[in-house]
Amino acid sequence: MLLAYLLRQAGVEAVVLERRDRAYVESRVRAGVLEQIAVDLMARLGLDGRMRREGLMHAGTKLASDGEVFRIDFQALTGSSVMVYGQQEVMADLFDAADAHGVRVVFDAEDVRLNGIDTARPSVTWRKDGVEQRLDCDFIAGCDGAHGASRAAIPPDALKTFERVYPFGWLGVLAEVPPCDHELIYSNHARGFALASMRSLTRSRYYVQCALDERLEDWPDERFWDELCLRLGPEAAARVTRGPSFEKSIAPLRSAVSEPMRHGALFLAGDAAHIVPPTGAKGLNLAASDVIMLSEALVEFYASNSRAGIDGYSARALARVWKAERFSWWFTSLTHRFPGMDGFDRGMQVAELAYIRQSRAAQTMLAENYVGLPLE
Ligand code: DHB
Repeated sequence: MLLAYLLRQAGVEAVVLERRDRAYVESRVRAGVLEQIAVDLMARLGLDGRMRREGLMHAGTKLASDGEVFRIDFQALTGSSVMVYGQQEVMADLFDAADAHGVRVVFDAEDVRLNGIDTARPSVTWRKDGVEQRLDCDFIAGCDGAHGASRAAIPPDALKTFERVYPFGWLGVLAEVPPCDHELIYSNHARGFALASMRSLTRSRYYVQCALDERLEDWPDERFWDELCLRLGPEAAARVTRGPSFEKSIAPLRSAVSEPMRHGALFLAGDAAHIVPPTGAKGLNLAASDVIMLSEALVEFYASNSRAGIDGYSARALARVWKAERFSWWFTSLTHRFPGMDGFDRGMQVAELAYIRQSRAAQTMLAENYVGLPLE
């Protein structure tokens, strides 16, 4: 959707194909933190009105090590902040303004197929309301996730994928209760990771690390709140407001990068090309930076008939992707309990957190990655 807006703004025609319906996309619980680049993008598209009113600017975040909380001041260290505004809200804003901006979206597009991506006349076919549809185009942007049709359309020998699967998941809960802190708390505890996040001043989003074979039935709300409070430590726990959860789910954690991000007329962007573990909230932000770069390449092609941007897209996007992958992997490694971890491994985590607490240089590394690296 962001790419379609960017192209439309430059006078390039695009059609968005969505396999599900609008309600589904808007109700899927996804990320909650926007980097400055994503905030600026919403502003550039004229879509930042509600975000400015309802989003929460966070000038820092908290880390906890065995319950001892300390703060990283993004604003002082980098001059930037982040915006807490759910991906669901971003999607609602994008869909709401689509007609007015001339952005065409086809919902319920079934059986999407990509054809001729190695040729100069690619096309996409799909079925809508039982009727076959076909669109001839110049390019296809594969923004359809790790399991979408786009990635699958690239011959396996033309794509290299590098992957890490983490031996745990996140059990997440949404509850209509005020958050325990005005900022996020990322906690490393001997029992495992916990995260205190939020969607608004009245809606909290909390996570605890769990085993991959854990079942939701084994996590009634009371058990979740008890475990969360233990891991956040007494100071934060005293401010946790408990309430009934209205969403509870377990998500596995994975890192993956596929290279290159272009095959002929097909470009990959976002989760279709790379997956990050959620720690550090880079998924949506990386998708946003990918499509900014992709829009620049495509607009340059239509404006000056130069293929330089198109040919350079994959390398340019991947340079930033790998850095965000590194940060997400590092932040995950620093804060989670790994099965088989011994006293030395744990000692390294505790020492690194203590070092970050006292070192402005280490805090700056965390802060500049968290608020988002520049688009180069
Ligand atoms: C959220 C998720 C994250 O992975 C993160 O780092 C920060 C916030 C969230 O869902 O609120």
